[in-house]
Amino acid sequence: MNRAIALRDCAARVALAAALAWPAVAQAAGITLPPGPGANLVYARCQTCHDLQYVVDAKGLLPAQWKSTLAGMKDYGLTISADDEAAILAYLTTYLGPNPPPATALAPAGPGAQAPGAAANGRHVFEENCSACHGPEGAGQAGIYPALAGNADLAKDAGLPARVVLFGLAGPIEAGGASYSGTMPSFGHLGDAEIAAVVNYVRSAWGNAGGAGSIDAKAVAALRAHPLSSADVHAYRAALVSAN
Ligand code: HEC
Ligand code: HEC
Repeated sequence: MNRAIALRDCAARVALAAALAWPAVAQAAGITLPPGPGANLVYARCQTCHDLQYVVDAKGLLPAQWKSTLAGMKDYGLTISADDEAAILAYLTTYLGPNPPPATALAPAGPGAQAPGAAANGRHVFEENCSACHGPEGAGQAGIYPALAGNADLAKDAGLPARVVLFGLAGPIEAGGASYSGTMPSFGHLGDAEIAAVVNYVRSAWGNAGGAGSIDAKAVAALRAHPLSSADVHAYRAALVSAN
């Protein structure tokens, strides 16, 4: 087992850190999965405790081995619906299994697939990618995942949540009166339209004020063209918060 993989600050890490003395290692650069139905669920559900290095390193497992790996993750604290588990298992066995992934990997499939340019549904993108950590109603988990519902930072500038989603966020923050020092992984694998839709959704859902203006796919593409590290996004956020 490669102990250099960073386990995130979560209950499993806290519990295991004492027992295993995990080194505090900077988050590995964003890891990209082969695109295919279910990949978004893996990005969303499998990075709450560790980055995706474990997952890509396990490429080649037989279906029964992936199944028992998932059972092991549930023992560590992964909570997942039967539908999501089935979709993740199908993805892992197809794209990270013993056989080469199908050549049709890029063909749109599954209810979440978007034709390029199609209007993305922000609520759907949120539920599939964000709710595992921030909660289905955006309430977060105090001290671990900041609440997005009632979060005043979101109203300040659509460019903040857009950068957080594109590039991730790392470094200590204060939000809603609680302190956080976790790492949010990048969701840059999502399309520009999906990112615009989810940013507009979290800024206006749950009674959030929205702030001036919404963001569109073109503006997200312009931000994407100037890549930032998750620490740069932290600095951008700090400047924005202190200026307001
Ligand atoms: C609740 C925390 C948690 C979540 C969520 C989680 N894992 Fe893990 N995972 C762990 C821990 C802890 C280890 C380290 C186990 C060890 O080193 O013995 C691990 C290790 C692994 C490994 C290395 C091999 C092994 O079995 O130890 C793989 C592969 C893996 N995880 C896959 C996944 C996948 C796929 C998902 C998403 C469905 C996922 N994990 C979600 C906690 C989690
Ligand atoms: C794996 C867990 C996880 C997932 C999934 C996740 N986030 Fe986060 N998010 C975090 C953590 C942890 C932080 C705080 C990071 C820190 O402490 O610097 C955060 C911070 C944020 C912030 C900054 C809040 C503030 O007060 O400035 C926004 C905005 C955000 N997330 C939006 C999203 C959106 C939108 C998605 C889905 C596309 C998403 N997150 C998915 C864990 C996650």
